Amino acid sequence: MCGIVGYVGNRKSSEILLNGLSRLEYRGYDSAGIATMERNKIACIKTKGKVKSLIDLEKENSLNGAIGIAHTRWATHGKPSTENSHPHLDNSKKFAVVHNGIIENYKELKSFLQKNGYTFYSQTDTEIIPNLIAYYYKKMTPRFLEAVQLACNDLIGSFAIAVLSTYEPNKIIAVRKDSPLVIGKSNFETYICSDVLGILAYTKDFYILNDYEYAEISKDEIKFFNKTLQPIEKEIKSIEWDFSTAEKNGYDDFMLKEIYEQPISIRETIGSKLPIDAPSNLDEITFTRKYLSSLNKIFIIGCGTAMHAGLVAKAMFENLCNIPVEVDIASEFRYRNPIINEKTLAIFISQSGETADTIAALKLAKSKGAKTLAICNVIESTITREADYTIYTHAGPEIAVASTKAYTSQLILLAIIAIHFAEVLKSTDTETLNTFKNDILSISNKVSEILENIDILKEFAQDNCNIEHAFFIGRRMDYLVSLEGSLKLKEITYIHSEGYAAGELKHGPIALIENGINVITIITDQELMDKTLSNVHEVISRGARIFAITNLNFPHNDFDYFLNIPKTNELLSPILSVIPLQLISYYIAKEKGLDVDKPRNLAKSVTVE
Ligand code: G6P
Repeated sequence: MCGIVGYVGNRKSSEILLNGLSRLEYRGYDSAGIATMERNKIACIKTKGKVKSLIDLEKENSLNGAIGIAHTRWATHGKPSTENSHPHLDNSKKFAVVHNGIIENYKELKSFLQKNGYTFYSQTDTEIIPNLIAYYYKKMTPRFLEAVQLACNDLIGSFAIAVLSTYEPNKIIAVRKDSPLVIGKSNFETYICSDVLGILAYTKDFYILNDYEYAEISKDEIKFFNKTLQPIEKEIKSIEWDFSTAEKNGYDDFMLKEIYEQPISIRETIGSKLPIDAPSNLDEITFTRKYLSSLNKIFIIGCGTAMHAGLVAKAMFENLCNIPVEVDIASEFRYRNPIINEKTLAIFISQSGETADTIAALKLAKSKGAKTLAICNVIESTITREADYTIYTHAGPEIAVASTKAYTSQLILLAIIAIHFAEVLKSTDTETLNTFKNDILSISNKVSEILENIDILKEFAQDNCNIEHAFFIGRRMDYLVSLEGSLKLKEITYIHSEGYAAGELKHGPIALIENGINVITIITDQELMDKTLSNVHEVISRGARIFAITNLNFPHNDFDYFLNIPKTNELLSPILSVIPLQLISYYIAKEKGLDVDKPRNLAKSVTVE
């Protein structure tokens, strides 16, 4: 959730650290801080607010050291304030720590340290870490690395940490457990980061730390150790992402850029997976007909937008493969003792691959004997390393908190996987599958078409930016995309909204419809068109203002706004109908002058429970 950056090299570290923090700011952004080694003393500055405030503060305090650590925080324990910001120092100011994650037993450790004479100045769980390291350094070992290891052995919870110490001033120690941390390497310089995006501008070569692996980083070398501090070898990996895809490239915001990238990201996701006149090409999985026909259930698990992609995928798998599918929210799944066995395939969808609840759900499914398949965007993320199989969406970095291109790429990939299963199972005839494949191959151009025709969306946003409530309604696939449209509106405009099955409105929510309430309806289901239209007329007669998004023909004179979108296979329709919904939210947020990329209280990657 928060972001960590570290640097060891020859340059003024503060410049690199602040640059890295700016790139990570989407992860957490209520305060930021930096500590550098200045002539064997730790200099530390921190402040409440965005990274920009820290950059201004650094100008007044100029930090020149060539080794340092930095952090951008999203408050969990203790309100956003300067005292609660990281880095945290121990009482003797010999150790400085930046930390992502949550220390669940911090209260016990804090009272232990207080009994031993340590004083605490913040409300955070993190502040116990430098003090615990100092305690072990004093009592047990005069080695920096060993003191960090002894402290980490006492921590329960999740952590990615980077530590500086005046005792060994040329080093940073980094370690993780259940929270991501990567070490980037270029000539004579080493970078530490919680996310490759923070340092992609400096290197594409990374070591990925696993749980309880320690990195001892100095200018000339990086040494890796396991939990018991035995030296280990680690392989360096190259990340192929182009740095420019993590830049705004002339767009006002990352979100708008990512919405407009969808024709390309969809093509990247398809890649060479759908050759014409040949079976689908999914080398990542090797499921036999025997295995797939032995399945009695597919579980699809995720959070937020990823879970919404799962809902659409349920229809794809059930229709094409005839396997029952259950979709669940990761935070519910993990605590409800789900019925899983070796006849269950569990699919986990996650853009970041670091969502704590999704990781926990995956571990649970695995422990109960299911095969696990990850659908992820971030290469080498935790979920990809935990799962039995991974297929990447290849949508490129998604920076804006509200997910857009990751959702459409997830849907495309899930559709391809459903085709693949149907081919292996022979559960759908070849002609139907070929038509479906062609629909997938032509969808990117249809997305472009929608993106070129946005006047009505801007007009709707201008007219309705001050509304307080909105409803998104539809049936079948149109209902599923309504949920995603409603989530987008909540996330970035702070307008209360509900996604509802059109037929369910009369069982409660219609009581809220009165003059001027906005109802956005998606109608792409020919078979159910008349039924949805009746529901729309029920709300019109109670005063609702209607925006209809459709690829069908029907009289719409009494609708306030109307948008025609291209036709496609019904199972793929959310990929097209979500585009105007993303843009409606975007333009309303802009009309309201809000920070679309970094909405309040939200973070891109939720690495805590
Ligand atoms: C956060 C983000 C959402 C995202 C969800 C799941 O809530 O703000 O945009 O859909 O996490 O994230 P994941 O990385 O697992 O897809």
